[in-house]
Amino acid sequence: MEMTFAMIKPNGVKAGLSGRILERYETARLSICGIKIKHMTKTDVEGFYAEHKEKSFFPELAGFMTSGPTIILALGGENAVAKVRALNGATNPAKADPGTIRHDFAATITENVVHASDSPESAAREVAFWFGQEELVSYQAPESRTGLR
Ligand code: CMP
Repeated sequence: MEMTFAMIKPNGVKAGLSGRILERYETARLSICGIKIKHMTKTDVEGFYAEHKEKSFFPELAGFMTSGPTIILALGGENAVAKVRALNGATNPAKADPGTIRHDFAATITENVVHASDSPESAAREVAFWFGQEELVSYQAPESRTGLR
C-alpha cells in the first residue's frame, strides 16, 4: 500500500470543510493512516516548506499557514500519491478542474485549501516530518459500508 501526506489548510479548517474534504478522500478508497490537528509555528512552516523558503511567495505562505490550525493526514491506498493530487486539483484553483477540491472550495493560489505530496519521495519525507512510526496505522479502505447504516 502506498502512503501519501495531505493537509487541510487553515482556511479549510476554519470554514468547517474538514469533514467534506475527508469524505472525498475516503470515498476514493483512501484509508486514514495518520491524523492530527496542528497550529503550525513559523519554524514548522520553514521546515516543512524548506524548498520554497527563498521564493517570493514564502512570507505570504508562512503568514497564512500560521493563521489557524491545519489537519495533517497520512493517507494510504493504491496509487495514493497520484490519487490525492488528482482529488485536490491544480495548485492554482483558477486552473483546477471542476469537481476537484481546490476548484470547488479554494479561491487563491496561496489559500488553496489543501496540500498533497507531489511524488513518492516527497510523501516519505512529509509523512516522516509530521508523524512518528508509532502514530501511523494501516488498514484496508472498504469497498462498501456493509454492516453500517
Ligand atoms: P502547496 O501544494 O501546499 O505547495 C506550496 C504552496 O505555496 C502552494 O500549495 C501554495 O499554497 C503556495 N503558493 C503561493 N504562491 C505560489 C506559487 N506562485 N507557486 C506555487 N505555490 C505557491
